[in-house]
Amino acid sequence: MNKFQWQEGLLQKIAALCEIFPAVIRNRWQDRLKYNSEKITAYEGSSLVTEDIFWRSVYEVFPGGYEPLILKVKDPAKLKADMIASREQENLEPGTEPVKITRWMNSADTAAAIPQGKKILAVNSSKRTGGNTDVIIDELVRACKDNGSAVEKFYLGDLKIKPCTGCRACRKGDVRTICTVKDDMTEFMYDKIYSMDGFIMGFPIYTARENGIMANFMDRWDCLSNPYLTRKMPGLKKGLVVCSWMWPNQIAYDNIVENMVILLRLHGVETKDVLVITGTRGKKHGKGVVKNHPDILHTTYQAGEDFLRAL
Ligand SMILES: Cc1cc2nc3c(=O)[nH]c(=O)nc-3n(C[C@H](O)[C@H](O)[C@H](O)COP(=O)(O)O)c2cc1C
Repeated sequence: MNKFQWQEGLLQKIAALCEIFPAVIRNRWQDRLKYNSEKITAYEGSSLVTEDIFWRSVYEVFPGGYEPLILKVKDPAKLKADMIASREQENLEPGTEPVKITRWMNSADTAAAIPQGKKILAVNSSKRTGGNTDVIIDELVRACKDNGSAVEKFYLGDLKIKPCTGCRACRKGDVRTICTVKDDMTEFMYDKIYSMDGFIMGFPIYTARENGIMANFMDRWDCLSNPYLTRKMPGLKKGLVVCSWMWPNQIAYDNIVENMVILLRLHGVETKDVLVITGTRGKKHGKGVVKNHPDILHTTYQAGEDFLRAL
């Protein structure tokens, strides 16, 4: 006998939430939602799954990017308003856009000295020159240069970076075969990654994940984490991650950003801070709207200085 009772209507809500999923995965999500709701209920010493527990459970189980799907069942009026706001973004006056910055680490000890002469490599995987990721990276670059570091910045989409072929030559431990794909990675990017002190990376969210240009770059970086390679990354480098997306929910794609932070760690970079830019709506599909928000640029500049302190 099931020892949990469910408040009326909630099981139907699970069915409605999971309706969009193809049958092959629907049961998995339904089971996760049920199990997690009952787990919270048990943790709270109860046997009745209430509406409140249920929605908390939904937000815990679904990645943040599923918010439209959740709102469709929980609050259709809010979803409609969000969708209308999204479609009317071209009418927003500069400075009124819902764009926000979320910094994952607090400001460092600003009395601490900033080390000089560090080598910073910055890469942007967005093709939108002057887009939001770009404006933020440029502000970080400015903070680094103003404070005595040397910065090189690249648009990954302008480099010749072919896909990894999976040949696994990089697993053989020979520096000369570090990668059999000959392009700008083998030509100079591996050298720059290898010799940098700090790494600034920025990417936009496309279809609820990092854009393809960044995913391809990270695949090609994998060879530097081979433990048998004489030329694996020397020590842990320090990183700063920038990610931007259009949906105003400030945690919508945190799971994607966390994945990137973990991947960087596996590739030999310890991320010291993350800047997430959300709600990038506005004229020209929100291109570069962050530059209309001096508070965001100020926070970014400070994060750049703190990043140098962490090197
Ligand atoms: C192909 C494509 C897919 C996108 N997918 C999403 C998405 O799933 N969620 C979201 O919030 N924004 C999405 N966006 C919007 C971008 O994340 C947003 O405009 C971002 O700020 C772009 O950064 P950039 O100006 O640096 O290129 C998408 C944009 C494009 C072009």
